[in-house]
Amino acid sequence: MERGPAARTILSRKVVRTVAACCAATTAIDPHWRNWFALGGIPALTEPVIDEPFFPTTAILTSRGKTQLELHDRATHAAAEKFGRQVFLRGVVEVSNYCRENCSYCGMRRDNRDLARHRARLDQTAELLVHHRPRAITDVNIQAGEDPVVVRAVVVPLIKILRRQTPLGISVCLGTLSASFYAELKSSGASIYIIKFEVADPAFYARMAAPGSLDERLEHIHLLAATGWKVSSGFIACLPGQNHDALLANFALARKLPLAGCSVSPFIAGDETPLAREPMAGIDLTLNCMAAMRLMRPDWVIPAVSALNLAEPGWGYRRGLRTGANLVTINLTPPDLREDYLLYKRDRFIMTEERILSAIAAEGLRPSKQSLADYYRQNQTPKTESARPAIGLVTALNR
Ligand code: 5AD
Repeated sequence: MERGPAARTILSRKVVRTVAACCAATTAIDPHWRNWFALGGIPALTEPVIDEPFFPTTAILTSRGKTQLELHDRATHAAAEKFGRQVFLRGVVEVSNYCRENCSYCGMRRDNRDLARHRARLDQTAELLVHHRPRAITDVNIQAGEDPVVVRAVVVPLIKILRRQTPLGISVCLGTLSASFYAELKSSGASIYIIKFEVADPAFYARMAAPGSLDERLEHIHLLAATGWKVSSGFIACLPGQNHDALLANFALARKLPLAGCSVSPFIAGDETPLAREPMAGIDLTLNCMAAMRLMRPDWVIPAVSALNLAEPGWGYRRGLRTGANLVTINLTPPDLREDYLLYKRDRFIMTEERILSAIAAEGLRPSKQSLADYYRQNQTPKTESARPAIGLVTALNR
């Protein structure tokens, strides 16, 4: 069960030890601090002192009604405390739907022979982002299927142009690449790498034919973080056959990783995939995962993903913004390419500038003037529970 306010005031042994140690230390250092907790007017033990890090439970993830509203409210407040009412606003350009991977959930998988494949043109994409981007965006995310050809021909030169001609912060979401590619992308001017772990169970990961192996994916996350990238990861909620324990395992894994942000995407039964007939993720479970993610890591940047509006047409996205999400994305992909960028359904829900701005205004949020990249530069990612020293450079170099 979720710990309510009453439960939160109960001292755990660990906390007692912490307070005792703290008192011993302060007594030795500064006599004014002796018995500070017994002084009148100071609450005996305040929440930040005794609260342990939040970790969700099945009851939290499945909550509904009043409990669910309270959960989402707590998440909204946690985000507001850390980030104010501001959300980061980025544009995304999808530059290639070629993909060498074969993920069962994704319509761009290499076995989908019915999909017309395209790569964006460098000159057109640069023109769009340099001269015709929405004024409110501070960052751009350059995204593609796993396609090293487009990385070399379009992404690297595009980043260099954007770096020279715009103040945009630059994220990339390009899949598992070689260490030398990562280095080239970074030296060109990108600073945020988005690489989802998708699902925390290695056997499940393999069953989904997700890229490489889970171990390899995690090695790449560690490698990216160790080489100076701000890394955002994420998982897909409610993949077919995923029970609540498997969902919780995603949180246990996420909190151990050296991340600056993390997303929750509802599973959408993708057109032209082996999972096309499977049930879609429930919106409530997805939103509860988002809220839990915010409470687990108040400092993380958590996006509201466009698929929320597929999980609950009309409302999913707005409700996502009430669970402590603090990053929104305007889709800038030219319409001819967009149609075949088949992540979910042919009938995509495109987050236009107008839709995004009206959704955030309706939720009492406003666009941040500071770019996400600048924010990260000024705020170092806190240390994680497990720093993993050994990085499997060998696998990374072999890709
Ligand atoms: N449902 C939910 N998320 C998906 N993704 C791809 N296909 C689906 C799907 N059917 C997400 C994966 C991937 C990202 C680009 O899109 O998390 O990493």
